Amino acid sequence: MKKVLLVGLGTMGTGHFFSHRTAAGSDLIAVCDVRYDMAKEKLTNFQSDTPLYDDMVKAIEDCRPDVVDIVTPTFTHAELAIKAMEMGCDVLCEKPMALTAAECERMIEASRRTGRRLMIAHVVRFMAPYMYLKSVIEGGKFGRLLRLDMKRISAIPRSSSDNWMQDDELSGGVILDLSIHDIDFARYMFGDPKKVSGLYYTQRDLTEYATADLTYDGFSVSVETGWYKAWIPFTCGYTAVFENGMVTAAGDDVFENGNKIELKPEMEELSIGSPCDTLDGYAREIQYFISRLESGGEFDASTPESSLGTVALCRKIIEVCDKI
Ligand SMILES: NC(=O)c1ccc[n+]([C@@H]2O[C@H](COP(=O)([O-])OP(=O)(O)OC[C@H]3O[C@@H](n4cnc5c(N)ncnc54)[C@H](O)[C@@H]3O)[C@@H](O)[C@H]2O)c1
Repeated sequence: MKKVLLVGLGTMGTGHFFSHRTAAGSDLIAVCDVRYDMAKEKLTNFQSDTPLYDDMVKAIEDCRPDVVDIVTPTFTHAELAIKAMEMGCDVLCEKPMALTAAECERMIEASRRTGRRLMIAHVVRFMAPYMYLKSVIEGGKFGRLLRLDMKRISAIPRSSSDNWMQDDELSGGVILDLSIHDIDFARYMFGDPKKVSGLYYTQRDLTEYATADLTYDGFSVSVETGWYKAWIPFTCGYTAVFENGMVTAAGDDVFENGNKIELKPEMEELSIGSPCDTLDGYAREIQYFISRLESGGEFDASTPESSLGTVALCRKIIEVCDKI
């Protein structure tokens, strides 16, 4: 078991709070949030007596966790992760790793200097439909991949603390915050594209959306993302067309040539080389992180260097997109 301190009990941190209960090997011993009263009320509602702090350093000094799980706004990731590693903790940190490649490099340097382990929580790599797609691409079930379309859109997120997510300086905007899931999956699977191009449309309070094309040798990947003013449900999925067939996903549902298939944990296990006794991607990424800490194995399903590369690719896409 690893003793875990969860830092950040906002929108995503609440999800992590419950995933730590599901993930084998995790012992959540304390929570920290600078909005102490908000977090206290949440813990009361969850009928939890988990100790609560408003300062990460104090929480680490008091509780001596093995692991710090950072689920705070993106602009705080680098400083908190580096501090936690310097204080002797292994760190799991939400995506994006940080706002810039330079900050990511500082995090990797801190991991090397302190000898503490660092993994970025790219949950899509641990989600069943994407793990399944990985196994189809690598196993060659339908032959060569010709085209992959990925999509991820939602209403404008309004629940972030002080609305930091709507400030590009703090969140990086919709490409770095939301589309990163699909851009990261493409890069995880295929590496850096030969060419990128795209469109980026921003009209504050109405929408911020982007489409980007990533060109690889012999196939291409398109990503579409957007935050919209209208209340629309969170929608994500993909269409992968191969020489001999097609795999599509809509949310958690996966179809082969139009026929829904049932995903089984053992089919996906191959994808990360680690047991998958839960289908919840968030619990699975935590479980994977802890199992690799315990075995001393590499985080080969999510190395910090690959997370740095993803931030760099997102930044490149933002730079080259035609702004409309
Ligand atoms: N993987 C996913 O599916 C997913 C989904 C949403 C958000 N995220 C990521 O999770 C991170 C958090 O996003 P969110 O939507 O939960 O934001 P949020 O604003 O809802 O929550 C962040 C929480 O961190 C707290 N906080 C800020 N600074 C702190 C500090 N120094 N110490 C302790 N607590 C601090 C805030 O008070 C807040 O409660 C972001 O990096 C975001 O990109 C990931």
